[in-house]
Amino acid sequence: MTEPWWKSAVVYQIYPRSFADSDGDGMGDLRGIIDHLDHLAGLGVDVLWLSPVYPSPQDDNGYDISDYSGIDPVFGTLEIFDELLAGVHARGMKLIMDLVVNHSSDEHPWFVESRSSTDNPKRDWYWWRPARPGMEPGAPGAEPTNWGSSFGGPAWRYDETTDEYYLHLFSTKQPDLNWENPEVREAIYAMMRWWLDRGVDGFRMDVINFISKDPALPDGELPMGAAYGNGATAFLNGPRIHEFLHEMYEQVFAGREALLNVGEMPGVTVEQAILYTDPAREELDMVFQFDHVWVDRGPDPWILQPLKLTNLKAIFGRWQAGLAQVGWNSLYWNNHDQPRAVSRYGDDRDYRVESAKMLGTVLHLHRGTPYIYQGEELGMTNAPFAGIADFRDIEALGLYAQAVEQEGRSPEDVLTVLRARGRDNSRTPMQWDSSPHAGFTSGTPWLAVNPNHVEINAAAALADPDSVYYYYRKLIDLRHTEPAVVDGDFTMLLPHDEQLYAYTRRLGDTELLVIGNFSGEAAKADIDDAAAWTSAELVLTNTAAPPDDLTLGPWQAVVYRRKLSR
Ligand code: GLC
Repeated sequence: MTEPWWKSAVVYQIYPRSFADSDGDGMGDLRGIIDHLDHLAGLGVDVLWLSPVYPSPQDDNGYDISDYSGIDPVFGTLEIFDELLAGVHARGMKLIMDLVVNHSSDEHPWFVESRSSTDNPKRDWYWWRPARPGMEPGAPGAEPTNWGSSFGGPAWRYDETTDEYYLHLFSTKQPDLNWENPEVREAIYAMMRWWLDRGVDGFRMDVINFISKDPALPDGELPMGAAYGNGATAFLNGPRIHEFLHEMYEQVFAGREALLNVGEMPGVTVEQAILYTDPAREELDMVFQFDHVWVDRGPDPWILQPLKLTNLKAIFGRWQAGLAQVGWNSLYWNNHDQPRAVSRYGDDRDYRVESAKMLGTVLHLHRGTPYIYQGEELGMTNAPFAGIADFRDIEALGLYAQAVEQEGRSPEDVLTVLRARGRDNSRTPMQWDSSPHAGFTSGTPWLAVNPNHVEINAAAALADPDSVYYYYRKLIDLRHTEPAVVDGDFTMLLPHDEQLYAYTRRLGDTELLVIGNFSGEAAKADIDDAAAWTSAELVLTNTAAPPDDLTLGPWQAVVYRRKLSR
């Protein structure tokens, strides 16, 4: 059997709203992406993933869709979309769409109908429930279950039209679709076929492991001091999830070539991921797991935990081993929901360029398909948010309100965490050049540009042969040309070391050694045959070659290659 093409591919995520604005309204658009396709082709990436560009009230920046078969006027038109797709294909790249079908917008005609009466034919397309028995509909605490929404507040909204509640695991404007209803599934599959027929190359599926819910919708466990119960056991990897995904495969993907379908899956386990991505089961190609981005999350969400490298390595090691035989994983540090990696895991002050390159090295040479988020190839950093008024993200605003107003937390404590972890960190506009608003827009950007764009920007990166951009290009080339990166066995080294992240990849007689120093202090890699490795081929490093005893400088990364005699 030939290997799927996406095993040697690298994906680049575009958050269109923040990528490039061609018409001066302060919001990125499709024409802006078209204008910058050479930046992406020049980097060498194989696939572009577009965050949602469909018509949307933009309550959650497009993750609330009111028409699945169109383009929001803010971003352009279907004609411009076709032009973009042709431009992507002409450069030998592919394009995958964001698919947000756990929920729609409350302004989607399906929901407008559903909420209109209890006997509307679309009533059952969403999750409607009466108030908790014995309680007055709309009264505090009368919600059908104790679940909280991911964005703060209860997961139920009372609707006066019919005196019932609808479920929304995210914002009140994102009602959850009822996948138990076969008509819902058919409508979604038809829409997906329509996009594939138009020429798109697959989907990134938003919170796709939430779509199957236990119809009993039981109350969740209520942690001490928490405002809401945790309903996850009733909807995370729910009872019919594998059935739904296999049905989707049969109805939408079967017989089509060369697609890439990746499921975003908060809380997915290794065991579940094997089931989701075993090719024989015909569900998805790969998943986004969350363990490594939750590594610094403690029991109290409003107390930052320091990053422990040994924990990070244990997580990646477990995923590498778990999917070694069957299944496939995605590799990512960043996306539009995560803070900037160089600020979170690196040093964005004294060693920004070095640590950005080190992080890229360590991530990309694992087994799996790497994802780059816009600006990561420039080493873009978190933003300096002064106060809550600087944030735009519905999650940041909702959780702030819940923590400060309902739970009585101190605003400063909450802000400290939002500054470090808030999603707006990754959503500040792409930094193209040093001009006002970073060349992102000629108008007023919807979210302020990071002031460091005068130094950190694409024009400066292209002019500097030592930039993060050119280093990422080398990493991408290495995946394209070195089969051991794609298929080699993975062995974690030095699992107890708190400074160094080290592993080998081996395929046939080729062995790669990858080491990254996650600290600003020099560190010696105490591995067997260190001296022998330093005389092997140094494929890549972000600073100078290390000495014979493999002592790595601050934030240094090295990649060696050798041939083993059998
Ligand atoms: C996913 C998206 C996130 C969005 C949420 C609800 O986690 O990545 O941006 O807010 O789903 O659609």
